[in-house]
Order: sequence, then C-alpha cells, then structure tokens
Amino acid sequence: MAIFSDDEGFIKKEKKNPIIKSETIEYDNTFENSIRPKDFESYIGQSALKETLKITLEAAKRRDKTLDHMLFYGPPGLGKTTIAGVIAAQMGVEIRITSAPALERPRDIIGILMSLKGGEILFIDEIHRLNKVAEEILYPAMEDFTLDMTTGKSQTAKTLRIPLPKFTLIGATTKAGELSSPLRDRFGIIHRLEFYTVEELASVVKRTAKILEIDITPDGAEAIALRSRGTPRIANRLIKRVSDFALVKYDGKIDKNVANESLDALKIDEFGLDTTDRALLNLIIEKYDGGPVGVETIAAALSEDVRTIEDVCEPYLLQAGLLQRTPRGRKVSPEGYRHLGKRIPSEQTKLFEEIL
Ligand code: ADE
Repeated sequence: MAIFSDDEGFIKKEKKNPIIKSETIEYDNTFENSIRPKDFESYIGQSALKETLKITLEAAKRRDKTLDHMLFYGPPGLGKTTIAGVIAAQMGVEIRITSAPALERPRDIIGILMSLKGGEILFIDEIHRLNKVAEEILYPAMEDFTLDMTTGKSQTAKTLRIPLPKFTLIGATTKAGELSSPLRDRFGIIHRLEFYTVEELASVVKRTAKILEIDITPDGAEAIALRSRGTPRIANRLIKRVSDFALVKYDGKIDKNVANESLDALKIDEFGLDTTDRALLNLIIEKYDGGPVGVETIAAALSEDVRTIEDVCEPYLLQAGLLQRTPRGRKVSPEGYRHLGKRIPSEQTKLFEEIL
C-alpha cells in the first residue's frame, strides 16, 4: 500500500495530537470512567470471554510477547471498550482510544501508529467504518509492524518501510459483517459480546450503586435490571435517573416500588422499551400492516437516523423476539403485537383487506 505525500512529508507537518478528537471525548466522561471496572474480578458478565482472555493474557505475559490483535463485536453498550481497558490494565500497558470516523485522513491513522510505544493497545471503535485508505495502512502495520509509505511524485517516488513498535490493535464493532475479510482475517482473536442476564445486570446495578453511594435494595436493583434491555450501559444510565427520582420524590432509597414508579414515569416499559422503540413497532403495525417494511422507510417516518434504528433500537427488539428481519424488510412478530396490546391480524383478514 502506498501513501503519497508531498516532498516535505505530511507527518512532520502534523502538530495536533490526532487522538484527541471529539469522537473520543465520550470515553473521558467522568461518570462512565468512575464506574468502569479495571480488572476481571470486578467486570461482571461475559464469562466465556473473560476465561479465554485470562489465558491469552497469562500466556502473553509468560512468553513476554505482545497480545494478538483482537476484534470484539456485538450490540452497543455491552462493554467492548470496558473489556479493552481491563486488558490494558491487566497487561500494565497504555491504551489509546479512538474511533474509525476520527480517522478520516491518512495522517490521522499514521500519526497514531507512529506515536505508539511498544506493547501499547490501540483501540478503534466502530472499526467497520474505517475507510479503504486507513484500512490499507493498517494491513502491514498489523501484520509486520511496519508503515509502507511512498514519498515524492510518480517518476521519483520512493517507497519507505518504517518500522513500528509492536502493538495490539483492539477493534470494536456493532457490525462484524461489514468488515472486509482482509481486515477481519488479521485479527487473531474474534469474540462476540452477549446480552447480559437479569442477574448479571442486577449485579452491575448494585456495584454502580455502591460506587455512587446510592441506597438500593436487591429487589430495586432487579427491577432496574429487568428494564435494562440486557445492556449494562443502559442499567447504569437508569440507576442515575431512578436515583434522581428517589431523591426528589421519595426518601432517597430505591426499592422495587420506587424503581418501578420512576421507570414508568420515564416511559420505560416492563421490557425496557422506550418511546422510540414503541413508536417503531406501532408505526409498522399501524401504517404497514405489521410489515415487512424497509429500514429507510421506518427511519424517515420516525425522523431518526437509519444507523440509530439499526444499531440502537433493533438489536434488542430482534433479540427479545418483538421484531423480525426478513429479506423484504422488518416485521412485527406476534409477540410484538401482544406486547403493545394490539390484536394480531390473521392471514385471512390481511388477504381480505388486500382484495378490497
Ligand atoms: N459497568 C459497565 N459494564 C460493566 C460490567 N461488565 N461489569 C461491571 N460494571 C460495569
């Protein structure tokens, strides 16, 4: 892969730290950081992944080797960044966090790669959104720890192979299927993160409550867990909201009743669906006879971004069996009708209405 630069070489001209991008600010958020587990013992859930990782890390330490590149995929909020942070802490190395949309120009990725120190972890979120040029810069970097660069113009062009320190790339994506196979093939470890059980989420809620000094009963924690859509990020968001309610409207303590009343007031239903999720199901039922209907049509009708629908709303609706994906678009399942208290149209009624 060749990267063309002017004769001065664009790397030298880059003064800004390319890692400090708006997309990375989210990770510096003090609330998320303060509750992020730093070791495997305090990281709840994903037990299969944890067990594999413990062995991989121990083997790398014993051999004094850099960790293999890793790809974590799965719906948002399940702890991909968190587990990368745990890996870095356990290995005693720095982690550099960025996301593919922040790596727009070749110099963004080159700048980061050249600033890495031996053994460090480079975490790229939303790696499926990496552009072709950045991806091709990564291939030799991942495989041989080199940067292949071409300087000068066509006739006088020279190829330079710049050695890089050994590093570990951890990629995270909600869409593993959108990764090109050459990129996917360069990851030694590929692991899917699973939705959390109610029990695991209740433990996350209790742990966060303890850190934030929130008074909560076990059934209060379970009530929040039940409506957290299998996702610790949502559980952590809800506990903060519920604790605001508990403080202002009750005596500050969260029990089952306080949790349920607060969540009802926040319009989070017993399945954890919020107003947008219910609007999505309602739209397909009311306007499109339960579907199938294309995701672009759904997004336009709800004034939402297609990506938000696909990445945020749908994974849980599909997993909960309320929505179905068909080649012709999305359909509400009989379970989805029941959840919204709607009558399921029989095939005969549908046929009759179509004839009329
Ligand atoms: N906060 C967010 N994810 C977590 C997890 N998996 N374990 C503990 N706390 C968390």
